[in-house]
Amino acid sequence: MHVLRPGTGTPLVLLHAFPVDARLWEDVAPLVPGDAPVLAVDLPGLGAARDVTLPEPALEASADAVAAVLADAGHARAVVAGLSMGGYVALALVERHPDLVVGLGLLDTKATADPEDAHANRLRVADVVERSGTVDEVLPMATALLGDATRARPEVVSRVEGWIRSQPPAGVAWSQRAMAARPDRTAVLAGFGGPVLVLVGEQDGPTPVEVARATAAVVGGEPVVVPGAGHLTAVETPEPVAAALGALVVRSVP
Ligand code: MLT
Repeated sequence: MHVLRPGTGTPLVLLHAFPVDARLWEDVAPLVPGDAPVLAVDLPGLGAARDVTLPEPALEASADAVAAVLADAGHARAVVAGLSMGGYVALALVERHPDLVVGLGLLDTKATADPEDAHANRLRVADVVERSGTVDEVLPMATALLGDATRARPEVVSRVEGWIRSQPPAGVAWSQRAMAARPDRTAVLAGFGGPVLVLVGEQDGPTPVEVARATAAVVGGEPVVVPGAGHLTAVETPEPVAAALGALVVRSVP
């Protein structure tokens, strides 16, 4: 677990996207208003969790790993926010460890399962990455996930590329298979009793604004739409992301 900002009280726990790691949150953490500790966890197979023994690919295992890390650190409650794959894991955490999550942030993500073509593509990508022993197949995501304005910022593109290049192929393949296996968790979201933030970049390709609207509607809300950002809002526009997360903490931990 990475303590991105020390603090007091119930922590804000940030779960990263695919195929990167907890560094996704480096810029957001210091900007989150308030004094809650801001923690980030590397999900199994990625970042500092590259050497864990990987079970059968399943995001339930990722959720259990996050719960275990928080328990080890003495946190019985947390505000949990995940971006894209991190959001899928956050919903699995709500399902499997309901007492742990007191507030939920779903950033550039969705509660639904993959359509058949996306599911098949994930399995194909996992096979290519595994066979080639490189992450080349997912490297184009560094630009594909970003909004137009961010694509014109070479320092951001090369930073994201660097994060992707540093991931182990085995962890990338495992994550793709785990995401492919995830069920629809719309009912889990609907049953969550705490505050929910749904946030999306206005140019998010994988989870467009309409998808975020549908996700927020499940809990009777509206998404926060971040102008000028694509899918990786945390690195593209950290200020509004941090502000929204700070507001979620205030709603979740009165
Ligand atoms: C991510 O950013 O985590 C990925 O785009 C998630 C996905 O492939 O569904």
